[in-house]
Amino acid sequence: MQRSKIAGIGYYVPERIVKNEELTKVMDTTDEWIQERTGIQERRYGKKHEETTSSMGAKAARIACERAGITPDEVDFIVFATLSPDYYFPGCGVLMQRELGITHKEVGALDIRNQCTGFIYALSIADQFVKTGMYKNVLVVGSEMHSMGLDFSTRGRNVTVIFGDGAGAVILQPTDDPNRGILTTKLHSDGTYAEKLAFINPGAHGGYHYDKMGEAVDLGYPPADTYGEIFLTPRMVQEGLYYPNMEGQFVFKLAVQKFPEVIREALDEMGLTPADISMLIPHQANLRISQFVQKTLRLSDDQVWNNIQRFGNTTAASVPIALCEAWEAGKIKEGDLVCLAAFGSGFTWGSALIRW
Ligand code: UT7
Repeated sequence: MQRSKIAGIGYYVPERIVKNEELTKVMDTTDEWIQERTGIQERRYGKKHEETTSSMGAKAARIACERAGITPDEVDFIVFATLSPDYYFPGCGVLMQRELGITHKEVGALDIRNQCTGFIYALSIADQFVKTGMYKNVLVVGSEMHSMGLDFSTRGRNVTVIFGDGAGAVILQPTDDPNRGILTTKLHSDGTYAEKLAFINPGAHGGYHYDKMGEAVDLGYPPADTYGEIFLTPRMVQEGLYYPNMEGQFVFKLAVQKFPEVIREALDEMGLTPADISMLIPHQANLRISQFVQKTLRLSDDQVWNNIQRFGNTTAASVPIALCEAWEAGKIKEGDLVCLAAFGSGFTWGSALIRW
């Protein structure tokens, strides 16, 4: 079976830089708190009414196509990962397809909902399609427009200060070179603690909210024997219950356990060790998490790429943005062993090993 390789890569972040200082004007937070707990100094926010998750994805995709030496028309299949879609439905895959002008060709577009691990899931799926010979140019995108769906009051500060907007994309193609390409991908999930990091409302679950500790709060509305209004109730609007909630410390503790575990799992399968990694691209969840993972695996500073300081946590976009930045900086060269890893809401976690 042929392997698949990353033939082109691109990323896009909006122009507007939002420094921690700017957030202190709308909520009770400080630059010191944000930097100390997360490492974040600034993030980007997209232009309201102009930029969307799919349009940013399209910008990153165009760059990836160009670097792969193809036009968007030559894309066979699209896999789009996001937790902040333009619409509830249809998904961003078809919207980006339209934006890229791939309308005359009936390519498939698949939407992935695996949050911070979204890009690794998307890459793994694309890898299977390429390896089996089904497609030759698969466009894989991770994109997020978080800034449209965050609580900018003090109530939402534990979540809001972390997230930023942006997009990353790759083109996967088959390679005949047995020493190159995606060596393995590992995907995991466990829904036991789904509500510990979640965006619950609006939804079809019918009247629950989960507080910051992930405890269910029955909103008691609408009454069970009525129809309608199940997606967004007046109380949800009044009390601002239509924002993401996260029990930060709970998520943190699992993240620092699962990152090294899933990286080792991929390395073990290939008979490799952490010392063989040329560049680890961790999902940019929190600088403290990445530093913990680096220490656990005994990696040097040169073996890990961090950019959360400048972009915040861009969820499904964070891995391809960081991968592209590292590559553009000349830190990833042919023959290098690149490891991608992520952990996030679901919970979901995964890794990918690539011989560049
Ligand atoms: O990417 C998906 C996966 N996500 C993650 O991996 C996130 C993992 N978790 C984290 O990164 C960290 O838990 C956070 C950065 C979210 C929070 O840091 P923490 O050190 O765990 O803080 P905490 O939630 O335990 O809160 C400590 C205190 C609380 O005040 P009290 O109760 O001690 O008085 C919070 O109310 O900090 C307060 N706080 C803030 N203070 C200033 C929470 N958010 C803020 C804020 N500014 N933005």
